[in-house]
Amino acid sequence: MLFSKKKNLGIESEDMNKIVADSGITHIAFIMDGNGRWANKRGLPREAGHGVGVKAFKKAVTLCRDWGIKTVTTYAFSTENWKRPPQEVREIMRLLDEYIKEAEDDNEKNHIRYIFLGDKERLGEELKAKCLYLEGLTRDNPLTLNIALNYGGRAELVSAVNSLIAEGKTEISEEDISSRLYTKESPDPDLIVRTGGEVRLSNFLLWQSQYSELYFTDCLWPDFDEMELRRSIIEFSKRKRRYGGV
Ligand code: FPP
Repeated sequence: MLFSKKKNLGIESEDMNKIVADSGITHIAFIMDGNGRWANKRGLPREAGHGVGVKAFKKAVTLCRDWGIKTVTTYAFSTENWKRPPQEVREIMRLLDEYIKEAEDDNEKNHIRYIFLGDKERLGEELKAKCLYLEGLTRDNPLTLNIALNYGGRAELVSAVNSLIAEGKTEISEEDISSRLYTKESPDPDLIVRTGGEVRLSNFLLWQSQYSELYFTDCLWPDFDEMELRRSIIEFSKRKRRYGGV
């Protein structure tokens, strides 16, 4: 039987709160892939896909918050994404700038703590200052939204190890590494959702994804709506997590 869009898989919002609570999911991460293809299919420039992608992301964050998920992480821009055409990079940075401005304005009602994962140095002084300001402004808010920006999983690990060397450590533990990653404030993600049909992590949360459940969908990110989000969380709630045990 086809799922009715209106009925949202036949599950009400209150049920989603229960499904989230029972499943134990506290941290969901998104690889928002497929914006360019979404735009191309409509004869639009790739950048238009990113614009609609931001709208889909805002909706997903609101739903996660309303259903009781405490931490959301997204892959907005990787260390490799600088290779894209300058016009596309400029538009992604503009969208981020706009997003940061709105996050500041909505701080009182959103209760979200923003953390930018990645090396801020390459962002330019202005954007870097805006990221730092938003992090400071929202630091006491109860829900966390990590935005990976100029982020690479390997670069993050190298930076953590270099910090440990600088501290003079000669022997290190897993905890030493975890506590020097950009994500040190967050638990490891329970679920990583990747849209756009590719089945890989693309240098995202390499250390933190040790026991994350992975969910891949062909849905292109701008089409990732409430029903798609429900589907991914319901699928997660059915997984048996054994962490290497039986
Ligand atoms: C992947 O799709 C998407 C990106 C690399 C950029 C995502 C960035 C945004 C949505 C804007 C900024 C984010 C926030 C949170 C304000 P793709 O371009 O690789 O798509 P394709 O595989 O179809 O080409």
